[in-house]
Amino acid sequence: MTEIRPLRPDDVREGLRFCRASGWNQREEDWRALLALNPDGFVAADSDGRLVGTGGAIRYGDTLGWVCMILVDPEWRGWGVGTRIMEEVLGRVAGLALVGLDATPGGRPVYLKLGFRDARPLARLETRVGTSLGDHARGARPLAAADLPAVLDWDRRAFGADRAAVLRWLFGQAPEYAWCVESGAGLAGYCLGRHGHNAEHVGPLVARGAETARDLLTACLGPHAGRRFYLDAPRDEPAWLAVLAGLGFAEQRPFTRMYRGDGTAPGRPREVFAVVGPEFG
Ligand SMILES: CC(C)(COP(=O)(O)OP(=O)(O)OC[C@H]1O[C@@H](n2cnc3c(N)ncnc32)[C@H](O)[C@@H]1OP(=O)(O)O)[C@@H](O)C(=O)NCCC(=O)NCCS
Repeated sequence: MTEIRPLRPDDVREGLRFCRASGWNQREEDWRALLALNPDGFVAADSDGRLVGTGGAIRYGDTLGWVCMILVDPEWRGWGVGTRIMEEVLGRVAGLALVGLDATPGGRPVYLKLGFRDARPLARLETRVGTSLGDHARGARPLAAADLPAVLDWDRRAFGADRAAVLRWLFGQAPEYAWCVESGAGLAGYCLGRHGHNAEHVGPLVARGAETARDLLTACLGPHAGRRFYLDAPRDEPAWLAVLAGLGFAEQRPFTRMYRGDGTAPGRPREVFAVVGPEFG
């Protein structure tokens, strides 16, 4: 019999096996951070002591739940396990005004049936950094701890919910990917990043315009020639996608950002040039 129970730290190793089976980028540290940040948010599907599925939701303040890590063992797919995990996870964020997620093409039909609607198409892009990102310092400088309050404030308005704990964690584990551009007394943009199993990952990348976003990205990537990076960009911004193609990024797979309700995204999506990633929003 398959039961849905809380996900425990000792399930993480098996959860990682599902990530590898689906080509996902999470490392053990990412699972542990997700669990530590949301101790009651994650569940396991357990069949007679065997882990056959996982899923959870991050609580962003009092307003937004972010569903993530919905993964079913390839041998157990199509038998309703994913739906049961989702129902349990949604119960855990029932008190929040809004619930969002980034769907893979495989997950989208499941979420449509549960009342989620498309908000924005995203693309997972990939590049191996070349040696020609020469003018990478244009206007951008490394982000300092003293910049964090301004970044967290802007991020709350751009994303539409308070992701302070996640952003502080990103900054702590990969400060080398944290950059900003100043403008007058404030910021004109910022980016953060993280490490991954298959590739490093840039995001969020938030800016007043595409030119600033480009400066931030080249500053972030420039020192890391030869390294492989992912970036999850809005797919409905052709000019920005052309900039990314010019920097060597190619599309690897599509995602769809979805919200329960009428699909209207909170925040200021036009300022978001790269999301943190499907598991963080
Ligand atoms: C997506 C995933 C979690 C679905 O889990 P699952 O246990 O196979 O899903 P279910 O059996 O509960 O299916 C739920 C419904 O969606 C439908 N469905 C599931 N996968 C589908 C697919 N790829 N295409 C079309 N419909 C699909 C099922 O037919 C079912 O419909 P029904 O209730 O009318 O019978 C699983 O396939 C998986 O782990 N995929 C790889 C990781 C992934 O992409 N996760 C989603 C992240 S956003």
